[in-house]
Amino acid sequence: MDMLLAVVIPLLFSPLVWSGYLEYDQNVLVPKDWTRIGRLRPTEELELTFALVQQNVDLLEEMLKAVSDPDSPQYGKYLQLDEVASLVHPSDVSQKVVRGWLRSHGVTNCSTVYTQDFLQCTLTAKVAETLLPGSRFQRYVRDGQSIVRSSAPYSVRDDVAQHLDFVGGLHRFPPGGHKPSTASSDLKKRQRDNGFHLGVTPSVLRARYNMTAADVGSAQNNSQAVAQFLEQYYSPSDLAEFMSIYGGSFQHLSKVDRVVGTQGTGKAGLEASLDVEYIMSTGANISTWFFSNPGRHESQEPFLQWLVLLSNMSDLPYVHTISYGDDEDSLSTAYMQRINTEFMKAGVRGLSLLFASGDSGASCLHMAGEKNSFRPSFPASSPYVTTVGGTSFKNPFKVTYEVADYISGGGFSNVFKMPDYQVSAVASYLKSVAATLPPKSYFNVSGRAYPDMAALSDNYWVIINRVPVPWVSGTSASTPVVGGMFSLINDKRLMKGLPVLGFLNPRLYKLKGQALFDVTEGCHLGCFDEQVQGQGFCTAPSWDPVTGWGTPNYPALVAALSQ
Ligand SMILES: *[C@@H]1O[C@H](CO)[C@@H](O)[C@H](O)[C@H]1NC(C)=O
Ligand SMILES: *[C@@H]1O[C@H](CO)[C@@H](O)[C@H](O)[C@H]1NC(C)=O
Ligand SMILES: *[C@@H]1O[C@H](CO)[C@@H](O)[C@H](O)[C@H]1NC(C)=O
Ligand SMILES: *[C@@H]1O[C@H](CO)[C@@H](O)[C@H](O)[C@H]1NC(C)=O
Ligand SMILES: *[C@@H]1O[C@H](CO)[C@@H](O)[C@H](O)[C@H]1NC(C)=O
Ligand SMILES: *[C@@H]1O[C@H](CO)[C@@H](O)[C@H](O)[C@H]1NC(C)=O
Repeated sequence: MDMLLAVVIPLLFSPLVWSGYLEYDQNVLVPKDWTRIGRLRPTEELELTFALVQQNVDLLEEMLKAVSDPDSPQYGKYLQLDEVASLVHPSDVSQKVVRGWLRSHGVTNCSTVYTQDFLQCTLTAKVAETLLPGSRFQRYVRDGQSIVRSSAPYSVRDDVAQHLDFVGGLHRFPPGGHKPSTASSDLKKRQRDNGFHLGVTPSVLRARYNMTAADVGSAQNNSQAVAQFLEQYYSPSDLAEFMSIYGGSFQHLSKVDRVVGTQGTGKAGLEASLDVEYIMSTGANISTWFFSNPGRHESQEPFLQWLVLLSNMSDLPYVHTISYGDDEDSLSTAYMQRINTEFMKAGVRGLSLLFASGDSGASCLHMAGEKNSFRPSFPASSPYVTTVGGTSFKNPFKVTYEVADYISGGGFSNVFKMPDYQVSAVASYLKSVAATLPPKSYFNVSGRAYPDMAALSDNYWVIINRVPVPWVSGTSASTPVVGGMFSLINDKRLMKGLPVLGFLNPRLYKLKGQALFDVTEGCHLGCFDEQVQGQGFCTAPSWDPVTGWGTPNYPALVAALSQ
């Protein structure tokens, strides 16, 4: 009962009335796979993350545009972490007010980050519930995993609210990942039953994307990373075995160079194995880091923890691939806006962030009275990351051309407006398919459209717990594949003394599809209702919201991007 009230009340009042509710539009429903086991004892400890309001966010955005636009004189002139810190760090007033407020409640065990815009504090449940009126901390369990979240929305004192974007550790449940699947549709089962099926391996990828055995990294300090938030770990022995079976023809590494965070124990995760095995196959011979579920405490949000880490590490890999995602409508606007700013902070430092576009096509938000709409996913919908969709081979028995994988996530954000770099690409698409578009009530034509590009996402071979597993599918496969290729292009640039590619989209859209294989066949999933009958958007020549600009023709992409 109190759960229902918690959701309904904030929606009945305007945000103005609820000014102390920083995340008044955050979904606080408990996902059905989690079970509440009880309220925390007052003396139990929590760790909360306070996101302080930053300065110069507009300027940060301008700088990001300048350093990532190949036609700007500032192109490639990235900032160091200390320069980002002097740009965005919270004002003295903000720091004083927030710290004073915490201190007045006896909260003094806090650590900050280099950019000073996050504070992480350890405090008891009793203190937290007084500090954040409305909050009620509960413990939830799922498959032996245990977390602490608040069952009701929190508020902060009015004079403090203006200095905080949000407080992390109260609401969002893990994982919200795009889990790769091994189960698949009837269609795929039929293809399998037809006998031998090709399946995707490193050599199939290299053949399709025109990579030769000589296409491996060689620059001294180049590196790439995958980040995992699903309580998973990769297995070093599986990775070694994968490379010995599938990595024969090209120079490659068989070990992750650095694990940041804690590797779990027990069985290796499919997702984690997939990510490292494939980023190290396209981004071969490049030092690879693995950011493992970095939460140390039950009350932390792993994805947020990863961003906090990025703001506290001056030396980071240039390319990061991530397969975390949640429905936009389940997240507060304050949270998404702030996370988007964190992506800008990464971009001005020259980091490329690639996110999987999701595995439910346009997805569906079911509303009363058959008034459905598509359901965009975040961070895929952020204008400041590169979002990767998925494809399948037209002929599953041959390395042929690609068609859309019907699971490939794509659509239009309801939160972020369309960034300049994609306006003309999206306008051309909307014009060329005008007659066959889903009804306008299903999507927001003024929003950031995604994905930006794609790669094969269907029928991968993965080694997991020493066994080759076929039929692994999802955009969490295509994303590390593309990430590894951009790492190789960075490698070429570093060898020439050029800056790395950084935030990719402005330059990617200027190519207008040059150097990419355009995907023009197939549609993805949408709402199963009378109006759209299971279909979302369809591919078309040039950019489309199913496969973006298409899939990489590696040598052409190198030629286009390595000067
Ligand atoms: C401060 O918090 C950390 C965890 O964040 C904990 O390990 C440490 O014991 C705490 N220190 C004190 C003095 O309570
Ligand atoms: C950031 O790094 C500093 C120095 O290594 C450390 O003392 C601090 O605890 C870190 N902050 C967080 C939030 O982990
Ligand atoms: C790359 O692959 C495509 C399709 O397989 C092929 O037509 C093309 O000639 C290849 N080479 C280059 C350099 O693009
Ligand atoms: C692999 O990378 C190292 C640098 O990390 C380089 O010295 C070596 O030449 C590379 N191997 C090949 C085959 O390019
Ligand atoms: C760059 O090289 C130094 C020295 O080998 C190493 O400590 C550092 O971690 C490297 N940085 C990255 C981002 O790979
Ligand atoms: C559509 O997106 C814009 C931003 O691009 C936003 O301001 C607007 O509220 C969205 N509309 C709906 C119905 O979500």
